Amino acid sequence: MAEPAYLHDEPDPTVQDLIAARPHLRMDAQSGLMLEAVPLARIAAALGTPTWVYSAGTMRARLAELKTALGGLDAHVHYAVKANDHLAVLKIFADGGAGADVVSEGELRRARQAGIAAQDIVFSGVGKTIAELRHAVAENIAQINIESPAELDMLSAVAAAMGKTMPVVLRINPDVDAGTHAKITTGKADNKFGIPYADAADLYARAASLPGILPVGIALHIGSQILNLAPYRAAYRRTADLVRGMRERGLVVDRIDCGGGIGIGYRDDPGASPDGFAGVLRTIFGQMGVKLMVEPGRWLVGPAGLLLASVVLTKGDGRFVVLDAAMNDLIRPAMYDSYHAIVPVSPVDALAPVRTSDIVGPVCETGDTFARARALPAVEAGSLVAILDAGAYGAVMSSSYNARPAAPIAMIDGDRWTVIRPRQSHEDLWANERMPDASTDWN
Ligand code: LLP
Repeated sequence: MAEPAYLHDEPDPTVQDLIAARPHLRMDAQSGLMLEAVPLARIAAALGTPTWVYSAGTMRARLAELKTALGGLDAHVHYAVKANDHLAVLKIFADGGAGADVVSEGELRRARQAGIAAQDIVFSGVGKTIAELRHAVAENIAQINIESPAELDMLSAVAAAMGKTMPVVLRINPDVDAGTHAKITTGKADNKFGIPYADAADLYARAASLPGILPVGIALHIGSQILNLAPYRAAYRRTADLVRGMRERGLVVDRIDCGGGIGIGYRDDPGASPDGFAGVLRTIFGQMGVKLMVEPGRWLVGPAGLLLASVVLTKGDGRFVVLDAAMNDLIRPAMYDSYHAIVPVSPVDALAPVRTSDIVGPVCETGDTFARARALPAVEAGSLVAILDAGAYGAVMSSSYNARPAAPIAMIDGDRWTVIRPRQSHEDLWANERMPDASTDWN
């Protein structure tokens, strides 16, 4: 019989190996699991669980590492706000000199609120509304990444009516398979994203003739959690060929927005290296006289966040470990079968004999499972665990399903920590709801 898909081929790394692969984590013999210099048990005691914890130092260090890797290139980092849009997170990246890649008016407003200059913001996305385009033009952001002829015409009408000229780049679909999960692959011809490669040069020429539009470059983004450089190399080579052909036609192309997607290690593997990624950019675009932009999200914030949870109870002699965190908090395992490492917080638990369990949440769906057949030191009711690498696509994808209030968020910086979002109250959940009755003014 075929092995069930959830039984991953590789054995689960040990707690020691998981921690050793993450420089911001440490297991202290007395204080237990520490993120930077703060014992996570202290935060759980103060805020309860489930609780998100972010490491400011890790975010800063990762941005610095990426910028160092890009050294010597005319390249600018535009943090992909969708990965984690908390104002405190955006502020860290703004202070580190990054701009922002946004995909909605809401993200644009958040980036501005956190202090990111409009001229450091690019606007991506396949379905920007007229209202959103109008807002972006009024804000004078750096560029709008256009994904279709229809959107180009919409923006031309909007900008011309406002008496403005908007810099645009055309997002192409290079038809390259990023080799990642099907739900986060974006650069294949049958994905909804971008302009077909073969149409891009003609559309660019047409853009140059439209009122309110100044075409300045090409963009692409082939997917997320990309661990291998080969798809980047293939997509960027196709882009470079396109740009050379466009220049031969006399079109001016001086920006290439290379997208994001750099993958991280969710087990004890190192993930993709920014040096390797930068090397590909250098080889392919280094001599082309273009400004480069990169839009990573996950690589910058993923490893910098975790979700603290408590074990509510165990069932079936440890076959099931039921946590107080659930799929409404962190949906990635339910949605993409993603692997998230789970480690005990107490130093005593960390040394317990290893047992194989399903680590599940309390929500009434079988999909509410963080890990299947996971080898983990035996944790029991009351134990604290940390679900690692939840800084990207964690809190931003939460819902209040099963009427579960949003978990609080703490931020650690060195040996200090502070609450950057308190726990939502139950009353907050229905604060905007109305119960119409006889006296209601129905339309
Ligand atoms: N630029 C564009 C145009 C994007 O669509 C994305 C992500 C990024 C940049 C940033 O990609 P990153 O560097 O973070 O891989 N919720 C999924 C990931 C969705 C990614 C969507 N687009 C997950 O949890 O794996």
